Amino acid sequence: MELKNSLQTDQFSEIIIVSNRGPVTITKDEQGATTYKRGSGGLVTALTGLAHYKKLTWVACAMSPEDSEWKHGQICLEDNDCDLTVRFINPDPEAYDGFYNQISNPLLWFLQHSMWDVPRSPVIDYKTWKAWDTGYQVVNRQFAKEIAELVRQKKKPVLIMLQDYHLYLTARYLKKYLRGQAVTILLFVHIPWPGPEYWGILPSRMRYEILDGLAAVDLMGFQTSEDGLNFIRTCENFLPKSVVRYRNRRVRYRSHDTFIRDFPISIDVGALEAMAESAEVALYQEEIARQVNSQKMILRVDRLEPSKNILRGFQAYESLLEMHPEYRGNVIFMAYLIPSRVGVEEYQTYLDEIMVFVGRINAHYGSSDWEPVRLLVGENYPRAVAAMKMYNVLLVNSIADGMNLVAKEGPIVNQKDGVLILSERAGARQQLGNGALVISPVDIFDTQKALHQALSMDIDKRQEKVAFLRRIVREEDINYWLKSQIDVLNSIKEKGKQE
Ligand code: G6P
Repeated sequence: MELKNSLQTDQFSEIIIVSNRGPVTITKDEQGATTYKRGSGGLVTALTGLAHYKKLTWVACAMSPEDSEWKHGQICLEDNDCDLTVRFINPDPEAYDGFYNQISNPLLWFLQHSMWDVPRSPVIDYKTWKAWDTGYQVVNRQFAKEIAELVRQKKKPVLIMLQDYHLYLTARYLKKYLRGQAVTILLFVHIPWPGPEYWGILPSRMRYEILDGLAAVDLMGFQTSEDGLNFIRTCENFLPKSVVRYRNRRVRYRSHDTFIRDFPISIDVGALEAMAESAEVALYQEEIARQVNSQKMILRVDRLEPSKNILRGFQAYESLLEMHPEYRGNVIFMAYLIPSRVGVEEYQTYLDEIMVFVGRINAHYGSSDWEPVRLLVGENYPRAVAAMKMYNVLLVNSIADGMNLVAKEGPIVNQKDGVLILSERAGARQQLGNGALVISPVDIFDTQKALHQALSMDIDKRQEKVAFLRRIVREEDINYWLKSQIDVLNSIKEKGKQE
């Protein structure tokens, strides 16, 4: 309701959302007719929901031959009224490989999640530079061209909402192509933004091109205030001739102002609750109940992703079993891992390491009637929701995390007054810290103590914590995230008019 008000009083006639992965992928049914599969998650629902109020176009990369062939068209999702057009750009496979598998994920993702092992990585060689020049730049240019074509036809103001680290160069290229035609550009960074100490490791040309690209954005959105401050510090250090204002959270560069704000992303509470009540989830609950029996359940649900710190989570659990033999036979660690970015080498090796480690714990501590860890690799959201209803402890121990939505989903559906253990380096800590047991992700001793504390916490304390978590997540849901961005854009535009 409130989002609707903000969108009715804003100054934009249309919105263009831009992201690497689109809201749908096109498929063919058995008769060869075109149909589509909707992307999962609250973000797709929230952003496509904008189509209720505005003409909305979503530009993304084609992910399959069917997407490429389809190119563009109207999409009617069950929760919008059809004013959503999806357009796919179709980079050549080599350019896309450089863009996605060499720059966006191993380089930028690893940098922004502080995952470099600096004596050994990153190694920037000829291949990396080629991927930068003929992959990352090229795909960003392709996005900018596509958007420019769309915007040129418009008479009224358009809002462009760029999503994430794949698109750091798009705004600068776009402004060049539009040659002075006014647009408003927002870029939301879904992942952490470390300080200049870390960005300083990136070669100066890459770093400069990124910051120069971002200084063409009007509003930079981050998950936490710390990420935003780190961005300003990075510009102050590495963007020559920029003038930064910490108090106004603004970077001025080439006579243009970029405003910096934090908008913690969240979940679609109503949709999640409806899913949690579904018959499908109930069936999975029965299955899980048979596996868990009367044991207490520690749960983690994550993409199979090195930044999630899955190995240290198991190390902490191993140490719990070692130091507290009373838990042996009485606790089960359920780990639901969703395969991700299988084309990036680091992700494949990570799974192998996890398998070996889990095998070791199960062989060492398990018995014919007790399996300490149950690991499931695959994507099954209803099953994950069923497990979230049943955990006693939810472990989120990421090395670094933009937000971590599992930390927000769990408390909403959980029926056991379960305890959230939360990494101090997950963006969710800013809002949820007071309702969780906060740990350092590298400290497995501390994590082990938190596991013990969570498993033995009394009911009053647990209820108090979970009530806090639920209140925050309900108040600041996905619509709040979107509304705050539109409100800030409105106020920036108002100020601009007055100046
Ligand atoms: C996670 C991150 C997002 C990112 C997405 C890309 O969900 O939080 O910031 O855009 O991964 O995932 P993909 O599977 O498309 O590489």
